[in-house]
Amino acid sequence: MIRSQTMLISQNMEDNIMKCFKILVFLLVIWASIITPLSAGWNSCIGCHNGTLAPDKDKLKEKHKTIDSFISAAQSTQNDLMKSIQKDVKSLQEAAKEIGLQ
Ligand code: HEC
Repeated sequence: MIRSQTMLISQNMEDNIMKCFKILVFLLVIWASIITPLSAGWNSCIGCHNGTLAPDKDKLKEKHKTIDSFISAAQSTQNDLMKSIQKDVKSLQEAAKEIGLQ
C-alpha cells in the first residue's frame, strides 16, 4: 500500500518535470523566433516576403537591380510591417546581397 503510494507520488513528480521541460522548450522556441530577425539575412524577411503579403525574392530582383535601389525602396515604403526593419540598414544590405543584388 505504502509502496504504491510512493510510486504514485514519484509518477506525479515525473509528470511535473515533463511539464516544466515542455514549457522550457516552448519558451526557447519563442525566444529563438524573437531573436532571429536580429541576426538578419533574407531568412528573416521570408515570413512576409512570400509573394502574398509582400513581394518575394524574384519580384524584388525584377524591380530592383542594385542594393541601393532595394534599400531605398524598403525605407520609403509606408507599410507599418516594414517599420522596424527600415532602420536596420545592415539587415537590408545583407538580405539584398543574399538574394543576389550588387
Ligand atoms: C512583418 C513583415 C515584413 C518583414 C519581416 C519584412 N518585410 Fe519588407 N515589406 C513588407 C511589406 C508589407 C511591404 C510593402 C509591400 C508593398 O508595398 O506591396 C514591404 C516592402 C519591402 C520592400 C519594397 C518593395 C518594393 O515594392 O520595392 C523591400 C525592398 C523590402 N520590403 C525588403 C525587406 C527586407 C530586406 C526584409 C528583411 C530584412 C523585409 N523586407 C522584411 C513586409 C515585411
